[in-house]
Amino acid sequence: MTGAQRRPRVMAKKKSADELTDRRLAGLVTLLGENATFVISGARIARELGVSRTTVWRLVTRLRALGVTVRGRAATGYFLESVADILTPEALKSALKGTLFAKHILHFFRTDSTNRVALELGHAGEPEGTVVIAEEQTAGRGRAGRTWHSERATGIYVTLLLRPRLAPVQAPLLTMMAGIAARNAVAAVTGLPVDLKWPNDLLLAGKKLGGILTEMHAEPNLVKFIIVGIGLNVNQQQFPTELRAVATSLRAETGKRQSRLEILVRLLREFERGYREMLSDGSANIIKRFEEVSSYARGKKVRVVTGAETFNGVTAGLTGEGLLRVARSDGSVFTVIAGDVSELR
Ligand code: BTN
Repeated sequence: MTGAQRRPRVMAKKKSADELTDRRLAGLVTLLGENATFVISGARIARELGVSRTTVWRLVTRLRALGVTVRGRAATGYFLESVADILTPEALKSALKGTLFAKHILHFFRTDSTNRVALELGHAGEPEGTVVIAEEQTAGRGRAGRTWHSERATGIYVTLLLRPRLAPVQAPLLTMMAGIAARNAVAAVTGLPVDLKWPNDLLLAGKKLGGILTEMHAEPNLVKFIIVGIGLNVNQQQFPTELRAVATSLRAETGKRQSRLEILVRLLREFERGYREMLSDGSANIIKRFEEVSSYARGKKVRVVTGAETFNGVTAGLTGEGLLRVARSDGSVFTVIAGDVSELR
């Protein structure tokens, strides 16, 4: 969804930098992208977007401020040196045609957190399948109150709004299913083998490649809505000092720029497949699959930190609700409901 289309009421209050991507801005990216490396005159852009030439200049200035490299100037026209890897709703809608996620796509060049936006949309009654994407997050949320580093136009920052008929205890399964979908998408596009660390981490070469933050609004026995936020490091070449030893990206591991669009489309298709299967057949398949692809599910020596205690043990599979079982040295088995699990080396 872009500027001139139906705008959710909750969005109206936000400041301009956080506004939903202007339809004209997205149109300009599409127009320049379709003609990449060719100079398009300001007059033609103005005509095609239905705006004045001064507005074209303003839009180009805004695009540049958002990190898109637009070459040229008003007198000669503008061009992109290469196709911008911007996740515009137009490109996504056509690639996702016929899927659950093709209808309501909200794109921000910059917002605080796509999870924050999606939670508001959930409360405002937006439909199942709504997708919120940002090129950049200024306050990306991670698990346990951490922040999620969200550099502009390098990673995938996306949140899905779902309204499944599930009990709240089943929500963690969606996190695991999202992890499997992201893993499959990365494998399909890059061939890289992503490991999953319970409950929500995607790891590559022992470092964090991505994470999932699921939040919900529920009554005691029934979910009203769930949002699944997925962050994936795709084209980052450098991380802030404090993350350098623990984070990686697909570009860092392959030495090649990767298409965020291709990965995101694959991810959303995989997610829909897993989601429908989960709703029709239950959780058994997700648990089985997670146990197959996660080196953390069984036989891994780990340290577990919960709100109440810290202990060491060996992982011993998942429960039917997708909780991690950890065997302690005294033979007792602990079920981790919420906590941090890290490998003991
Ligand atoms: C974690 O591993 O701690 C979870 C990270 C989840 C990050 C994603 S990025 C898109 C969505 N919006 C947010 O604010 N967070 C999630």
